[in-house]
Amino acid sequence: MKSSVLLPLGFALTALFVSAVVPACSNPGEEDATSEDTGEEAYTTEGSCDGLPKLKNLKTPPGVCVGVVATGFTFARSIAQLDSGDLVVAEMGGWAKDRGGVWLLRRKDDKTFAKTKLNAIIDKPSGIAVGPDGLVYVGTPDAIYRFDPYAATLKSDPTRKLAKTGPLAGPDAYKQPPIKLVIKNLPGDITPSGASGARHPLKKFVFDKRDPWTMYVNVGSASDTCEQGAGARPPGGYPFPCPEAEDASARGGIRKYKLDGPDHLGTTFTTIAKGLRNSMALAVHPTSNLLIQGENSRDSINKLDASLTDQEGDLPHEELNVITEGAHYGWPYCIDNGTPNPEYRGRVNCANYKNPALLLPGHVSPLGMTFYTGTMFPAPYRNNLIVTFHGYREYGHRLMLVPVDAQGVPGAGEPLDIIRGWEKSADGRDPQGAPVDVLQANDGSLFVTEDKNGDVLRVFFDASLGNGAPMKPLPPQRPVVSADERARCDALARRTDAFSRIQRDLIDTSCVGCHGAGPGYAGGLALLKCDSVGNATRLTAARSGGRGSYVTAGNENSELVLRLKGQGFPQMPAGGVSPELLDEVQTWIRDGAQVPR
Ligand code: HEC
Repeated sequence: MKSSVLLPLGFALTALFVSAVVPACSNPGEEDATSEDTGEEAYTTEGSCDGLPKLKNLKTPPGVCVGVVATGFTFARSIAQLDSGDLVVAEMGGWAKDRGGVWLLRRKDDKTFAKTKLNAIIDKPSGIAVGPDGLVYVGTPDAIYRFDPYAATLKSDPTRKLAKTGPLAGPDAYKQPPIKLVIKNLPGDITPSGASGARHPLKKFVFDKRDPWTMYVNVGSASDTCEQGAGARPPGGYPFPCPEAEDASARGGIRKYKLDGPDHLGTTFTTIAKGLRNSMALAVHPTSNLLIQGENSRDSINKLDASLTDQEGDLPHEELNVITEGAHYGWPYCIDNGTPNPEYRGRVNCANYKNPALLLPGHVSPLGMTFYTGTMFPAPYRNNLIVTFHGYREYGHRLMLVPVDAQGVPGAGEPLDIIRGWEKSADGRDPQGAPVDVLQANDGSLFVTEDKNGDVLRVFFDASLGNGAPMKPLPPQRPVVSADERARCDALARRTDAFSRIQRDLIDTSCVGCHGAGPGYAGGLALLKCDSVGNATRLTAARSGGRGSYVTAGNENSELVLRLKGQGFPQMPAGGVSPELLDEVQTWIRDGAQVPR
């Protein structure tokens, strides 16, 4: 629990600092350097959740029980688990500089958790993950660091290191371990024009599944919609193209770093995706290796066009995007499914930017997500995305289950809430909350950081527990389908030829996530959704540069087949396809690779 004397004071200082450097309006709950909260609420608990105090007043479906792991953090942000089972938590400490830290949480024999501060990295630590070397990686606004928590030494006895097991010494008992700078010079608090107060300085990152030394790093935009100055009609306007979004060191995108060399440092990078305002939620699918991004879309859309409303989750939608290397996702020019922002109407062609895979209600602020691969939770949870909604508006402050297809593309079913009811109760306070990050622990339970109350929670499944509130869907969002695509899908549903079957069973389910809409098709190959005529044509046509075709009629060892088998080429999709599907493709080729007409 927080001290009622100390915390509001600390907060008041933080709020002062923020209002001094960020003149922009505040949008509670959104992932901006403009947002603040008091952290003064506290939870009520009753009963037990696998040995932890069970939260009252939250709505969870049968079996889902939420226990309090640790309290008293000033902005608990991300959480990761070490091989030892210990947890590490990045505590941001507020928006002012150098007030954060890293904590170690260890489960005790009585099943509660002991917490101890490693104080490792202090400037707004946000992202945290365990790397392929088993070390802890932490993202601050302008750098990513790594350290070995077990190299921390006891303050009273610097020769004694933090043991991997056994009781922890109390708070602040450890001196910080040696820290290595892994990536430096990230665009942090400073805007491209050199002023302080960039809007999205926090760094989240994920490691690739196939190449574990590859790291994807969020570089959030410094502005809301590329405004040059303050106000609805800033003096410098809204340039097209927006330099911040298109520069070689663009913001509003995702960078790929290879941590190469003997020291595994990230000295060079490529910006693999542009036009993403702030990618706080990032997850890599465990088998397809697809990178999924949660977009925190622009604020105050009614500034220039009062007929648009950004209230109650209206416009623009937040998004889940499938990241393909080289694609541009439209920020700051376009929102939703190819709709120009009011600032850019008449100046942009939104067809040049890749559409999201799924629209979410406006301002829900997806800040953390993970693919659930554990067995503690039953089938409907497995292999789907679990996403935190941090935003404070009607459909925010929830933990969500987002169904995905076999490749990890969101939209395979309706998103449902796992935890809701984090709104104010009749007495105006308990149990208001705002989840930030979600981690799947090695026992299959989930850990959630929550920065309104400053807590870490454990979400545990036991069929005999839970509050028994049925999971609720979100209100329907606009479908992410263009008129062209809808027409193609209607036509495809009526086709009976061999390739149209392959289109439905193989290409639409296993390929379009990476090779589908927008520019930046993976490998330069466009395989559009429901486009059996176009795709058969593309696959059988000669490629430029005398590279032959992907499919040659009669040749069952055409490149397409070799790709599906993973012979001589990287396998498409990862993990391959069923023998029946492979046979269907080979039969189509043997029978002349007919293009449907
Ligand atoms: C997880 C993302 C992903 C999925 C899913 C995927 N691909 Fe790919 N594909 C890529 C990437 C990245 C490349 C470029 C690198 C390479 O050649 O391996 C590529 C390249 C290719 C190429 C070669 C293109 C060229 O001209 O170099 C073919 C053919 C291909 N994919 C076919 C498929 C088919 C068919 C499917 C579905 C059965 C599929 N892919 C599913 C990511 C994907």
